[in-house]
Amino acid sequence: MESQIVNIGVKEWKINHNYDWINALESGKVIHFSNLPFNISQTEKKLLSPLILKKNCRNVSLSTTNQLKGAECDAYLLDALTNLMKRFRQNATTLITSLAPNYKLETSPTSFRPIQVEDRKQSYRGNDKLLHIDAFTTRPNHGKRILRVFININPNNIPRVWRIGEPFENVANNFLHKVKPYSSWQASFLHKIKITKSLRSEYDHIMLQLHDIMKFDSNYQSNAEQIIIPFYSGSVWVCFSDQTSHSVLSGQFMMEQTYNLPLSSLYNPDSSPFAILSNIIGKKLL
Ligand code: SIN
Ligand code: FE
Repeated sequence: MESQIVNIGVKEWKINHNYDWINALESGKVIHFSNLPFNISQTEKKLLSPLILKKNCRNVSLSTTNQLKGAECDAYLLDALTNLMKRFRQNATTLITSLAPNYKLETSPTSFRPIQVEDRKQSYRGNDKLLHIDAFTTRPNHGKRILRVFININPNNIPRVWRIGEPFENVANNFLHKVKPYSSWQASFLHKIKITKSLRSEYDHIMLQLHDIMKFDSNYQSNAEQIIIPFYSGSVWVCFSDQTSHSVLSGQFMMEQTYNLPLSSLYNPDSSPFAILSNIIGKKLL
């Protein structure tokens, strides 16, 4: 398997518009920056504990209007956490907009994940330790892409270890024949009873099925082509997580910034999951 990861040594978040890196990203590779500056102050280090989580919350999230959810600590630390997450969001946005100025980014909330991966309790379907592509049960995205920027902020240099699987085209070729047929009746029903926030399109249905089928195939999980990559403290990595087959094996203290973007703002729309699936199936899916 051609390497699924591209290491980039730049030392500033504002980088050059670079077609090679964009092509790598849009073909489903992970681009990895190990030298970007992100200083964590002594006060911020106090935030690196699962004890700051509110009861029953797994992550802290910072909305685009800077409302913090999921954290419980004194006002001074809440402020520090807001600032830490905002700083990451600003840097992540600088990175992506300088790399790919065409992208029409819609910014989602920023998330901070303080629980040790090995201790997380998750349903089978929600278990991110299994190789998957991202697709959401409740939030259909109608072909909009999911671009994610991650940073490991572990204070003890414990890596966040990921597996990266085979290219999306192989995933699609392996599993499309197992996907249940789309039912527009069922999609309307799910929307009516508010399980989905909008109508699940045929594209969303197929992506969610691929996500589930991959996770439930234990033979595939152990035998699919994959590499294991440790992302050390300070590392930043970026991928289209609706395209890159990925899973997390271990680690603690990561921040993540998600963006959605329309297919039309991609540089190579033909390498998107939408185009790959439409091509294999022989019709445009949306
Ligand atoms: C995921 O996006 O599937 C998990 C990422 C992580 O927690 O490192
Ligand atoms: Fe994921």
